[in-house]
Amino acid sequence: MKSRSSFVCQQCGYEAAQWYGKCPGCGEWNTMVETLREISNHKSPSLRQGFGGQAKPQKLSDVKHIEKNRLKSGFSEFDRVVGGGIVPGSVTLLAGDPGIGKSTLLLHILSRIGGLYVSGEESAEQIKLRAKRMGVGGENISIYAETIVENIISVINADKLVVIDSIQTISSDELSGMAGSVGQIRYAAEQFVRLAKTTGIPIIIIGHVTKEGEIAGPKILEHMVDTVLYLEGERYQDARILRTLKNRFGAVEEVGIFEMRENGLLEIANPSEIFLKDRVKNVPGSVVTVIMEGSRPLLIEIQALAVPSQLAIPRRVGNGVDYNRLQLLTAVLQKRLGVPLGTFDIFVNVSGGLKISEPAADLAVCMAILSSFKNKPVDSKTAAFGEVGLLGEIRGVGYEERRIKEAKRLGFTLQLTSKTARSLRDIQKLIK
Ligand code: TYD
Ligand code: MG
Repeated sequence: MKSRSSFVCQQCGYEAAQWYGKCPGCGEWNTMVETLREISNHKSPSLRQGFGGQAKPQKLSDVKHIEKNRLKSGFSEFDRVVGGGIVPGSVTLLAGDPGIGKSTLLLHILSRIGGLYVSGEESAEQIKLRAKRMGVGGENISIYAETIVENIISVINADKLVVIDSIQTISSDELSGMAGSVGQIRYAAEQFVRLAKTTGIPIIIIGHVTKEGEIAGPKILEHMVDTVLYLEGERYQDARILRTLKNRFGAVEEVGIFEMRENGLLEIANPSEIFLKDRVKNVPGSVVTVIMEGSRPLLIEIQALAVPSQLAIPRRVGNGVDYNRLQLLTAVLQKRLGVPLGTFDIFVNVSGGLKISEPAADLAVCMAILSSFKNKPVDSKTAAFGEVGLLGEIRGVGYEERRIKEAKRLGFTLQLTSKTARSLRDIQKLIK
């Protein structure tokens, strides 16, 4: 360890000269993080400067309005998700699984806005290869393959936009921890945040998600940046969904939908079509539902397979639906409709690798299971949505009008909702 750093507990603030697995102060485990110690005669006075770079307080009415200065990324899907474009001086964390398309997305955006691409993962030649594949000439992009935070800070000057790929590879010589350690990530991110706030240069930081599904050093980074975006999707499927987990400059419910192509990412203005494009009609076990992604209705297909089980405890496997929700819905079908699912394995899959987090899909999940169990298809012009309660009743969900409108627009002439069906019994009659 260097003499200028110490270890500080992130829970209670206990400071020690060495690292402890268990904090001697509060007894919490794994909370000690290496931190640079404040030194009074520090050679860099800017380290002690605050975020704003502002000399004195100013009137709120005189504060510059950010809206008109937002940078357009070239993707209206991206701009909508961040609230209308990239805000000058903002720091955005783009998180996602490795290989999902984070670098690709940001290279596209850089090619539109222009700026600096800092790569700690790939060499300039590798990035060139990728750019070529994407049809990006790169006249307005500078590449800097570097991992030392101080070197990176020193070259950032008047760039329109800076991309850091990725925070896990960046480290400082001031700290002894390895790149990717919580202390290093936090320190590097602090430097970038300060730089963005003092220069007005927007910075987008890429962060890989760890196996446990968390952005490394997640809490620390989320608090420091203005916006947290999450790019998700199944690696071997084309659809990519960009979500906001936090946004100081816009709403958090918006999502953007993209498709990964041979030559880069393509934004999808009409997302229902990509999620329904491979649908096979009039086959038992398939039902279309309408979910909301932000303020936008999205039609997707729910597939179910009910097969006699060879196991003492039959399997319940949900891909894109919550496991506990699936258990519950199966139990409701069994109890309220007397369907003997207790000896059946049940698999449920959501098309396009989407994950459903709202109960509006309950009805379609129940219908798909029932349809597969009875081996009878549901009319392919049906779109069903509604929450299913423990009594087998169908409950209303938010944005019904919008969902119905979208279903109609895409040719689903039969809409099943809490308004057209009261309980699962009414539905059962349709699958005979
Ligand atoms: P990448 O942007 O490198 O992912 P991340 O930065 O999130 O780790 O993209 C990874 C995958 O995308 C890679 O396996 C190849 C694929 N890909 C395409 O299908 N088309 C393309 O045009 C590009 C550039 C990549
Ligand atoms: Mg990458």
